[in-house]
Amino acid sequence: MDSIGSTFQPDASGTPPKQGPFPPNLKLNDGNEIPLLAYGLGTARGKWGDAAQAPLDDEIIELTKMAIQVGYRHLDGAEVYNNEEELGAAIEASKIPREQLFVTTKISATEKKSTQEAFSLSLKKLGLDYVDLYLLHGPWFADSEAELQQRWADLEAIKASGRAKSIGVSNFLQEHIETLLKTAKVPPAINQIEFHPYLQHGGLLDFLRKNNIAVSCYAPLTPLTNAKGGPVDAVWKQLAEKYGTSESEIGLRWCVDQGLAVITTSSKKERLERYISELPLIKLTPQEVADISELGNQKHFRTFWNDKFGADDRR
Ligand SMILES: NC(=O)c1ccc[n+]([C@@H]2O[C@H](COP(=O)([O-])OP(=O)(O)OC[C@H]3O[C@@H](n4cnc5c(N)ncnc54)[C@H](OP(=O)(O)O)[C@@H]3O)[C@@H](O)[C@H]2O)c1
Repeated sequence: MDSIGSTFQPDASGTPPKQGPFPPNLKLNDGNEIPLLAYGLGTARGKWGDAAQAPLDDEIIELTKMAIQVGYRHLDGAEVYNNEEELGAAIEASKIPREQLFVTTKISATEKKSTQEAFSLSLKKLGLDYVDLYLLHGPWFADSEAELQQRWADLEAIKASGRAKSIGVSNFLQEHIETLLKTAKVPPAINQIEFHPYLQHGGLLDFLRKNNIAVSCYAPLTPLTNAKGGPVDAVWKQLAEKYGTSESEIGLRWCVDQGLAVITTSSKKERLERYISELPLIKLTPQEVADISELGNQKHFRTFWNDKFGADDRR
């Protein structure tokens, strides 16, 4: 078992962290650090449809304040979640010094627009003068390689200005990253992807590790939420019993124990507290991680961006 006093720091190589204070930071390829566990402002916390235009939503502010209060420092936002103002209000009300927080936002995956204007508007809504991570939410806005490369160059300029400490991508396949790397001066620090046992993306992880690009996993608990009744149910339950915890922690730990950052969300204070207090106490063995991966590969399920992928596209 790993020593709590170890100074080992995880990076994009995929080596998992040791046990110890949680969440540990992962070192990105630009030297910055990202907390391995994040509280997400999308999915159940976003303002969708008619609600997008509604005034400040107090419930989102209160839940985000609560997440910060129980110890979440990595906050995952996006322009399309339509709640950057709520995220900013929660940050301000939390009174946590700005440098102790890690704030992410993202530019639309699908819309052609001025990157500088979109970024300035995000900062304004957040009430911040910089973000820790600015992501391309997806590659689908671009009709050509040049368009994708140009938006990446825009992010590089934003990073150079100091208004985003790190820059990265989300929902990118290997081919999209290869396109960026042809012209990039700064490689993406991270690729934020849907990742859980039912969507392991074939060779993408290996490719990212070889290129020193970290991964953050969204929708990690899909086997418990949108794809119940699948082949990992039994092993998650059995491991939850073994470690005296719940299946949710097993799902999150399966990502962490592959050296990946993980983004979840919850409306429940007890659940968020439990992740912080129990995740450091458990560590899946390499065999347990492999068993879950193998069972997970028996089923394919994608919750997000289904209109961009074929029904059996596992990349
Ligand atoms: N880049 C992208 O394209 C993209 C796409 C999607 C999401 N994201 C980011 O990732 C974040 C997390 O995504 P996600 O919400 O899909 O993450 P998730 O961690 O897979 O799911 C979180 C949900 O799981 C529920 N849950 C936890 N344990 C459970 C259990 N034992 N049984 C049943 N339900 C359980 C929680 O409900 P309770 O509220 O009841 O606890 C919560 O609503 C988003 O907020 C967003 O920031 C990014």
